[in-house]
Amino acid sequence: MDAFVARVREASDILGVVAAYVPLKRKSGRYWGCCPFHQEKTPSFSVVPDEGFFYCFGCHAGGNVFKFISMIENVSYFDAIRLQAEKLGISMPEREKSEKELARERKLDDLRKLMEMAQRFFHNCLVKTRYGEAGLRYFAGRDVGMDIVEAFGLGFAPDAPGKLRDAFLKRGVSENLLMEGGLVTERQGSVYDKFRNRVMIPIADDRGRVVGFGGRVLGDGMPKYLNSPETPLFNKRRLLFGLNRAKKTIRETGRAILVEGYMDAISLAAAGVENAVASLGTAFTAEQCRLLLRYAKEICFCYDSDEAGQRATLRALSIVRGTDAEARVLIVPDGKDPDEFVRKHGGNAFRALADKALPIGEYQIRRALRTNDIRTLDGKNRALRAILPALKAAGAVEKNDYIRRLRSTLGIDEGIIRQELALYRADDSTEEVRVQTHRQAVRAADDAVQSAGRALIRMAWRDPGVALAAVAEMEDEPFPYPLHEKLLRYLARCGEEHRDPQDEEILETLGDEAAAELSRILAEASVAQAGTYEEYLRPLVLAQLKSAFEVHRLRADEMERKGNSNFLQELQKSQRIKQKIDELHQDSATNG
Ligand code: UTP
Ligand code: MN
Repeated sequence: MDAFVARVREASDILGVVAAYVPLKRKSGRYWGCCPFHQEKTPSFSVVPDEGFFYCFGCHAGGNVFKFISMIENVSYFDAIRLQAEKLGISMPEREKSEKELARERKLDDLRKLMEMAQRFFHNCLVKTRYGEAGLRYFAGRDVGMDIVEAFGLGFAPDAPGKLRDAFLKRGVSENLLMEGGLVTERQGSVYDKFRNRVMIPIADDRGRVVGFGGRVLGDGMPKYLNSPETPLFNKRRLLFGLNRAKKTIRETGRAILVEGYMDAISLAAAGVENAVASLGTAFTAEQCRLLLRYAKEICFCYDSDEAGQRATLRALSIVRGTDAEARVLIVPDGKDPDEFVRKHGGNAFRALADKALPIGEYQIRRALRTNDIRTLDGKNRALRAILPALKAAGAVEKNDYIRRLRSTLGIDEGIIRQELALYRADDSTEEVRVQTHRQAVRAADDAVQSAGRALIRMAWRDPGVALAAVAEMEDEPFPYPLHEKLLRYLARCGEEHRDPQDEEILETLGDEAAAELSRILAEASVAQAGTYEEYLRPLVLAQLKSAFEVHRLRADEMERKGNSNFLQELQKSQRIKQKIDELHQDSATNG
């Protein structure tokens, strides 16, 4: 297998592969283009053909040719190798798999086939049998036409205890598998269809494979929506309904619209708004955020306008904060949900709303004004106080604009607003400034240690002796950066065993993050590397010693507090470390 992968990699020309998707321009020894994995206008995506890597300085995607194919084609790393081998006409050897691996693959395979069968079953019930008439009437009543029924593969679960069960058992599907797929439930020793008398909405993963279902009652029954239980295929936190269809338009428009309900996403698609996806009845997750960031930067949250929807919006915004995503909030007028709005006013009207969706600060200001009774003095004060944090975070131009608007809506003098703002800052400034300075100091130290680690790894990539020496110097104590530690220890091992590092092996044994970090390091290699081994190693050793010092000092404190007389030994240990730190500092001072 290794030989096969190596053959495919050697036969692959990463430049040619990437250029088929991304227009590239040569500049200073490498190739640049606009990153296909995030939205950008100036190129920060680069390919280094000599090293066989790509790396984006904007979104930090990076790796070898297979990683690129797996990301751009949305397939697993292994499938990327297979695709590339097929393209190059290299045939794959049969790989020995462990029994456990094989069993898991068979299970997933069986579940996938089952989900596909179920989707066809429900769909046929809807469009080909008399059971489905009620379902068709239901969809027609919601303006869901036959084209949309087909496009989303919608279906109907008959109003009977075991139609699916009987049909599937007859076709040789085991009761066990039906249970595992969540299509039946057990009651008093017998199994019954889980979904009955509901319209069925298949839920696909981002590659379009059905992994579960949502079933909606026809009338006002409870629960309104019944969803598949979690299965090895169906993980609600990692899925977004409609993404497989919407991803193309999301990429093209640079914007994903996130709605609460399946029917909202379906209705929007029916009205020609093709970039909407729905979360599956759970709070928006970081995984879902990452999933969307693969296609676009902007996420437009369009939750229901009721209080629950607005609280969900605030929660979602807190997930998005700190990522590269740009969040906006779209509030549908008149308390309608997106489905109701788009059916009444059409797709263009909805798109116009999305174009005018509010930036986060604006949204928070409006919310403060709306949720407080600003006719009373008390309400005005509370609204103003709720808004101050958003005002503080706003840029200068926005801030002026917000203050002007507050003056007119709250009827509070502009001078007073500015004074409150100043006071608000003064209030928390001592603590806040202290925290900020501390954070900046830590981050600056972090940056230095991090770039030293990178420089060291870059050296070690060409000369494994560097890794061996560094690892020996750092002994068994943890390195400041676990990723760098992994990479250096791996490179040292290669040095010991007199073999070249392998990027598949790195991905497999060190993980995705370590592999991306390595790509980044190699992609940065054109930056002049002026330092010496000692200069790069010193910050790492210092950081390591400093954290060891803290550990021993804290332990000594703790022991002393508990009356343990051994605390003196700990204290001595920490003193010895402190001494080493001072020596190193002197060294670096005399060395320049
Ligand atoms: P809503 O109650 O807002 O429904 O739930 P909706 O989307 O407007 O549905 P329609 O228009 O009445 O058909 C929003 C989402 O919450 C989840 C579903 O994912 C639903 O789409 N939900 C809701 C459930 O999972 N179970 C429920 O019982 C209700
Ligand atoms: Mn609705």
